[in-house]
Amino acid sequence: MTNTLNGAPLLVVGAGIMGVGIAQVAAQAGHAVMLYDSREGAAAEAKEKLARLLEGLLAKGKLTAEGVTQTLSRIESISSLDAAASVRLVVEAIVEKLDVKRGLFGQLEAIVAADCVLATNTSSISVTAIANGLRHPGRLVGMHFFNPVPLMKLVEVVAGLQTDPAVAAAIFELSKVWGKVPVHARSTPGFIVNRIARPYYAETLALLLEQAATPAVLDACLRAAGFRMGPCELMDLIGHDTNFSVTQSVYEANFFDKRFVPSLVQRQLVDGGLLGRKSGHGFFDYPDGAAKPAIATVESIPPPTAQLLRVHGQGPLADRFVAALVKTGQPFLRHEGSDWLGLEVDGSQLRMTDGRTASELGLEVAVFDRPLSAENDITLAWAPSLRASQAWTSAATLWLGAFGFKPQRIADAPGLVVARTLAMLINEAADAVQQGVCTPDGANAAMKLGVNYPAGPFEWLAGWNTTAVVQVLDALDSFYRGERYRVSPWLRQQSYQEGGNEPQN
Ligand code: NAI
Repeated sequence: MTNTLNGAPLLVVGAGIMGVGIAQVAAQAGHAVMLYDSREGAAAEAKEKLARLLEGLLAKGKLTAEGVTQTLSRIESISSLDAAASVRLVVEAIVEKLDVKRGLFGQLEAIVAADCVLATNTSSISVTAIANGLRHPGRLVGMHFFNPVPLMKLVEVVAGLQTDPAVAAAIFELSKVWGKVPVHARSTPGFIVNRIARPYYAETLALLLEQAATPAVLDACLRAAGFRMGPCELMDLIGHDTNFSVTQSVYEANFFDKRFVPSLVQRQLVDGGLLGRKSGHGFFDYPDGAAKPAIATVESIPPPTAQLLRVHGQGPLADRFVAALVKTGQPFLRHEGSDWLGLEVDGSQLRMTDGRTASELGLEVAVFDRPLSAENDITLAWAPSLRASQAWTSAATLWLGAFGFKPQRIADAPGLVVARTLAMLINEAADAVQQGVCTPDGANAAMKLGVNYPAGPFEWLAGWNTTAVVQVLDALDSFYRGERYRVSPWLRQQSYQEGGNEPQN
């Protein structure tokens, strides 16, 4: 089989948004590229469009004149697949339909040599299923680029059941030569990124269904955790129809596992044609120049004095509380060995969430979300117990302000916003690793490069604590009862291995 595809002549089938991007990247890496589209004239039009785009980049000084000429001279639009008999690699980026893709590859097998590698850019169809019926199914592999192809670094190299490991390895190496960061994936629903990312949307949609918080507040909380876009604005950008259909396809492909169940909230947006930016309305409105809705913030005034203040737990957050208390001049005690993290004020508790609701934890209790940044003034969700007094409810928010947060009160939902979302992202990534879909490093790279996450799921896990993550998930599971929050066996075993049967923060 092929040892290297570097510089090999290749064919890109499908001259749409992805195909043209792939052709551009391959030509820039020095390949002679043929571009074919079944719609007459589409490949030639696409090449002209690419020429205008590259000239625009030249005008901005991002490309040289020689680079533009060379790239364009390497791309040839062809009007019959027969012209591509001598290529050594085909990358398919046609319509997302199994029977059409199978038909194309069957047709190609009659044209190209037996050792020509066949790659599909499918984002949701099983690579194993596409290969079914081929004479040489071992040569078919997924080469999943992200949009826009020239800018997005990630390539998921997806192996189906019959993919020859040497073929996957050759595509992996080629992707690197093209300046990409490839990650090996096994062909399972959603591959890596589209699977692990589901909870980012799903947890926010679940909180919206319960009316626990508004879209603007949920977005602010997750942006404060380092995400470039909150889930609501991101779904508005992707388009609710697209996002809903990916969720639905992952759900169906997993035999309707309740873990992946789509949301009624999104269903309603789709049914109503509120598709997001492209239709002008989604969670937010998008008339020209419209500003995002602002969220109300609480004025920061010093908290009331107390008879007994005690900082519970240890670590950077406890240290932050201690430093803030020193500044207030109020005397306080410490209980480093406590089984919770936060502040005790005359018997009332302000606790970082361990997954349980404040109401589950007691009377005069308020819980706050897991802060991911040491910065001041980050938005942080919090909730008082339904049984808390008005006095403690008011004091709790002032204390959070005194510790440098911008507190956002939401309903008393288990795991609040960030802790719950991150725990679920980690859980999904853990299942993917357990099922051999990817390695922890692969999951980290894929999520950072494919969807611009500020960190990978296993990096969050390393900065947290496996037992604490399992606790959050178990609390969600026992609160909601259902399949959605069941803990990944990988994560649970890992927590036993770390000896973590003790409560953790
Ligand atoms: P597109 O609709 O922009 O382009 C598809 C092109 O394929 C069209 O020009 C169409 O005329 C042509 N085509 C359709 N059937 C054909 C056939 N039998 N033979 C030759 N050409 C044919 O679609 P897009 O967005 O470029 O997607 C292409 C593939 O890439 C799909 O499998 C999609 O799931 C996948 N993908 C798309 C991403 C995106 O963000 N748009 C991201 C990653 C993967």
